[in-house]
Amino acid sequence: MLNPIKLASKNFLSSLDTSCEEFHHILEIAKNFKNKDLNIKLKEKVLGLIFDKSSTRTRVSFQVAMSRLGGTTVDLNPTTSQIGRGEPIRDTARVLSRYCDVLAIRTFKQTDLEEYAKWSSKPVINALTDLEHPCQALADYMTIKEEFVDFKNTVLTFIGDGNNVANSIILCGALLGVEIRIACPKGYEPNSLVIKKALEIYKDSNLLKITNDPNTAVLGANVLYTDVWTSMGDENLKEDKDKNFDKFTIDNNLVSKANKDAIILHCLPAYRGKEITNEAFESEKSRIFQQAENRMHAQQALLACLLS
Ligand code: CP
Ligand code: NVA
Repeated sequence: MLNPIKLASKNFLSSLDTSCEEFHHILEIAKNFKNKDLNIKLKEKVLGLIFDKSSTRTRVSFQVAMSRLGGTTVDLNPTTSQIGRGEPIRDTARVLSRYCDVLAIRTFKQTDLEEYAKWSSKPVINALTDLEHPCQALADYMTIKEEFVDFKNTVLTFIGDGNNVANSIILCGALLGVEIRIACPKGYEPNSLVIKKALEIYKDSNLLKITNDPNTAVLGANVLYTDVWTSMGDENLKEDKDKNFDKFTIDNNLVSKANKDAIILHCLPAYRGKEITNEAFESEKSRIFQQAENRMHAQQALLACLLS
């Protein structure tokens, strides 16, 4: 029986906090959880959830994953705790890590997440920041692996905003050797440091392409992926974005240019008629709800590895 192996990094703040081997290991453990081939009990372990932004999937999938492991969760947000009144992160982190065995944090700045990790005596997980969404990427690549068995020769085209989800897709793509094409309007490219790090990992393989032309980016792609144009915290940019992203909707025209066996992913929540048409969203190519389910299996595996 495959058992979870402790990860080299104490925390999971970024997609680069695992090695390629560890990433594959987490996906393997997740698969075993999903198939009910693995039954691990982390009795009495407590996961603290700190969510400064809204969440449905991440919050609930962590709660259920922890429950399946025999543990429990406490759910905090700025209005129900002292966090919203400005208690310093370094104090909150030192207190909560004396009660909890692991913390999953959704917040704005990556540097705030890093501050939690610095002061927490227990592992800290990135449950989404403005910069990255590494738990999402675990489920995304799990879904891709279920479809295509391995990542060799897989082309993933992300159409839309070069946001947190895109950044984590790129970093994991670099770790796993997946060809990533990002199609976004000018000025909405992924984070430049993320691109630099990814290129260092890809070395000379030329597998990362950033373009402003969605039509060429989808040619022969195996995976079409999109996310909202306006992320949480960017609401004041919505009007501009709706105009600038006009040509970046996954629709039948773009889908027809991808590989005939291509699948469609979306991290959710989705805005039909904006980043994706209802037809594409509901089509038989969509693996969107399988992807959402995999959040739970992937996070259960991540928790098992971090707490073993
Ligand atoms: N995809 C995702 O993280 O969804 P929530 O915002 O609902 O957690
Ligand atoms: N990019 C989106 C992802 C939501 C899960 C956001 O940050 O709002």
